Amino acid sequence: MATPATLIYGDGIGPEVVKATVHVLEATGVEFEWDEQQAGLGAYEATGNPLPDATVESIERTKLALKGPLTTPVGSGFRSINVALRKRFDCYANIRPCVTLPNTKGPFEGIDLMLYRENTEGLYTGIEYRDDRNDIADAVARYSRKGCERIVRYAFEDAIKRGRKRLTLVHKANILKETGGMFLRIGKEIAEEYPQIQFDDRIVDNMAMQLVIRPQEYDSIVTSNLFGDILSDLMSGLVGGLGVTGSANIGEEHALFEAVHGSAPDIAGQGIANPTAIIRSGEMMLRYLGENAAADAVATALHDVYAENTHLTSDLGGTASTSEFADHLAARVAQI
Ligand code: NAI
Ligand code: MG
Repeated sequence: MATPATLIYGDGIGPEVVKATVHVLEATGVEFEWDEQQAGLGAYEATGNPLPDATVESIERTKLALKGPLTTPVGSGFRSINVALRKRFDCYANIRPCVTLPNTKGPFEGIDLMLYRENTEGLYTGIEYRDDRNDIADAVARYSRKGCERIVRYAFEDAIKRGRKRLTLVHKANILKETGGMFLRIGKEIAEEYPQIQFDDRIVDNMAMQLVIRPQEYDSIVTSNLFGDILSDLMSGLVGGLGVTGSANIGEEHALFEAVHGSAPDIAGQGIANPTAIIRSGEMMLRYLGENAAADAVATALHDVYAENTHLTSDLGGTASTSEFADHLAARVAQI
């Protein structure tokens, strides 16, 4: 039976990379009943609403979405629909794996990191104030016991499932005594329940340096919303850039799969974007659905196509277009 799933093409390179991903997912033989919906800047321009009710209702029904990146213009009053969707469906765990593929010319070999980003609180609550009279602005970083507990617990449970050995909690508790302090304190409490996983913590600025100098020494990382956003882009840079890292937003009932990257307006419409990132998200979606053989087929085919080095996109020094890469990969998936 086909699995119902909401499909959002998104803005910028979104339609190009999502179409490529659907092609690869279909090559696995797993059937989806795609419900195409709009969101983002394109939806705003077309309907006057960046998050139409029909899109929300669709995800409420399917509980599953594959989405392209959505543009959030800087300096406008337009709030991020990505953040709104994650909050609306309470997808509190943002999982961002970072694994080296062959021929990606990253500065290191053999990177295999997992990042768990808290996805509903921290500085991304959107609680901000502007005081025009005094020319000052404030942002509220909200942390709750429930929010801290569930992301740390998710990270431990998932780390165990994946056979990982170590979890590093990243924070700024030296300066942010209440918020960062709470996250670290709760992390340490929960770590007591998981003696089988080696637990430690790092201050975020040091962690940024450690990841650039010796990423192989780290395994899994759990952190707050803003630090996770920044560190996951940094980690993408360790394995060939934003074209290759996927992500999953997981809640109790709903799950949204998207790339780490944004709508890349600088290369949109040229047919040259690397669809690997969102294909990786599709692989995570297959695994979430228990379609492990299909997910393994996508992972193996990606590894093979990268090792072959004949159909890579221009971000990695190749000459293949988005669709040439995807056609080649889909053919390989179908053979497995
Ligand atoms: P970006 O991630 O869109 O692009 C950063 C750089 O990476 C650009 O040079 C771009 O060409 C390159 N890049 C990104 N994805 C690529 C791919 N698949 N293949 C090859 N190169 C790729 O970040 P930027 O420019 O800061 O943001 C653009 C827009 O995207 C903004 O409106 C932002 O709000 C939005 N955004 C949306 C996200 C989402 O929907 N989850 C996440 C991040 C940003
Ligand atoms: Mg980001």
